[in-house]
Amino acid sequence: MEVRGATPTRNLALELARVTEAAAMLAGRYMGRGDKEGADQAAVNAMRLVLSTVDMNGVIVIGEGEKDKAPMLFNGEKVGNGSEPDVDVAVDPIDGTRPLAFGRSNSLAMVALAPRGTMFDPGPFLYMNKLAVGPEAKGKIDIEKPIVENLRAIAKAKGKQIEDLTTIILDRPRHDDMVAEIRKAGARIRQIPDGDVAAALMTSWSDSGVDVLLGIGGTPEGVITACALRAMGGEIQGKLYARDESELRRGREAGYDFDKVLTMHDLVSSEDVFFATTGITDGELLKGVRYYGNHITTDTLVVRGLTGTIRRITATHSTDKLDNLSSVHY
Ligand code: FBP
Repeated sequence: MEVRGATPTRNLALELARVTEAAAMLAGRYMGRGDKEGADQAAVNAMRLVLSTVDMNGVIVIGEGEKDKAPMLFNGEKVGNGSEPDVDVAVDPIDGTRPLAFGRSNSLAMVALAPRGTMFDPGPFLYMNKLAVGPEAKGKIDIEKPIVENLRAIAKAKGKQIEDLTTIILDRPRHDDMVAEIRKAGARIRQIPDGDVAAALMTSWSDSGVDVLLGIGGTPEGVITACALRAMGGEIQGKLYARDESELRRGREAGYDFDKVLTMHDLVSSEDVFFATTGITDGELLKGVRYYGNHITTDTLVVRGLTGTIRRITATHSTDKLDNLSSVHY
């Protein structure tokens, strides 16, 4: 092999894997216990602890809202050990809190990093309309166009008919019209109870069988999705969505444009992104956490935008050893 250019730089996503593994291992204990708050607190506690060890000067841009009291991971909170690089941090300690609390699939712990000032800050505006596709249909979508036109473009890019496409959408009454439009266009539909980040990642995951994510979901989740898809070669477009007139008014007063298309570049303007996610419950992307008495296993996806490297890390964690070292009991 010929060595050219600069030596490889550090891949912070590998450190992030430890962060999401810890969150998943602690939160996984809550599977099916019906305790969403307890699960969330456990994931946050573990995530906070391990984030503090990461070599970075991080500020949380996508967090748990602006909370006055620690220990939540709140927007504006500094994380990392304070050394370079300066980064924006997006955390979703559990995407799919309900599926975890009720023992259903596709609950994930996730974190993303990007250079300081490059992540979109959605403020208090919780929802956005999303359209996400995998690498083959990248550059072919336009959220402003009718659904049928997008489906036609995606089908063409993938060498399929519209009838062959599988769309995925959160199962919510707000999507009734959209579902009717998709049905009219002739595509297949998977309606999921929760977890539109996992759904968006499936568009860029070979063999998932999913071609496109549509519909309104969380804005923070949209920013995290953009970080992941940048590295996985896919694309997401979004548009902020106001639930009522007063939210629209407040948004406009705060300078948010609900008519603007948020491109992947608007959601995260740098290629230099890092993303890690660990399965908490079993899902199509990743296996959930398994507890074996003296050890725990985790399954993690780690991606880096700059290089486009996608890693899958399965880990075995010795609980005997961790109990002597760690301040949290897994
Ligand atoms: P949480 O686990 O953080 O609650 O998010 C789950 C989720 O399904 C997201 O994946 C999605 O973006 C959002 O909730 C949709 O919001 P809502 O449940 O209010 O429709």
